[in-house]
Amino acid sequence: MGTMSGKVCLVTGGTSGIGKETALQLAVLGAAVTIVARDEARGEAAAAEIRRRVPLAQVGTMTADLSSLAQVRRLAEEVLARPGPAAGARTSVYLASSAEVAAISGAYFVKSRVSCPSALARDAQAAARLWALSAELTGLSPGR
Ligand SMILES: NC(=O)c1ccc[n+]([C@@H]2O[C@H](COP(=O)([O-])OP(=O)(O)OC[C@H]3O[C@@H](n4cnc5c(N)ncnc54)[C@H](OP(=O)(O)O)[C@@H]3O)[C@@H](O)[C@H]2O)c1
Repeated sequence: MGTMSGKVCLVTGGTSGIGKETALQLAVLGAAVTIVARDEARGEAAAAEIRRRVPLAQVGTMTADLSSLAQVRRLAEEVLARPGPAAGARTSVYLASSAEVAAISGAYFVKSRVSCPSALARDAQAAARLWALSAELTGLSPGR
C-alpha cells in the first residue's frame, strides 16, 4: 500500500508538463487522482497514459477552464458533491457490523437501507447465464 493510499488528489494542469508528472507520481504512491482539464479529450488521454503506466492507478478526470471563475465555482461544487471513500464505505461497514441486519441475506442496500436494484440486475435469465458462465470458467458444476 502506497504512502498516499486513501488520499484524494485533484491535479489542475494535469494534461501536460509538471501537472501530468505530479498526477502520475501521486498515482504511483496510491492516491486517488483526479485530473482537471479544460479539454475533456486531453484529460482522458493523460488519465489513459497514467493507467497504462500504473496498472492499479485510481485516476479520473473532471473538466473546467480555470480562466473562468464561474467554471472554478462549478468545479468546486462538483468536487464537494462527490462521495468520498469514507462515505462510500459506510454501508459495507454497517452491513458487516450491525446486529440489525445480521439475519438479512441476499438483499441490495443503498445508504444502509434495503433498496430495489436496477431492472438489469433483476433479470433472472441474465443471472442464470452469469451463473453458468462463472461455473464454466471456474471449473465447478452449475448445480453447486
Ligand atoms: N515555482 C517554480 O519553480 C515553477 C517551476 C516550473 C513551473 N512552474 C509553474 O508550474 C505550472 C506548470 O508548468 P508546466 O511547465 O508544466 O506548464 P505546461 O506544460 O504549459 O502545462 C500547463 C497546464 O495547465 C493547463 N492549463 C492552462 N490553461 C488552463 C486553463 N485556462 N484551464 C485549465 N487548465 C489550463 C494546461 O492544459 P492544456 O492541456 O489544456 O493546455 C496544462 O495542463 C505553471 O504555472 C508554471 O508557471 C513553477
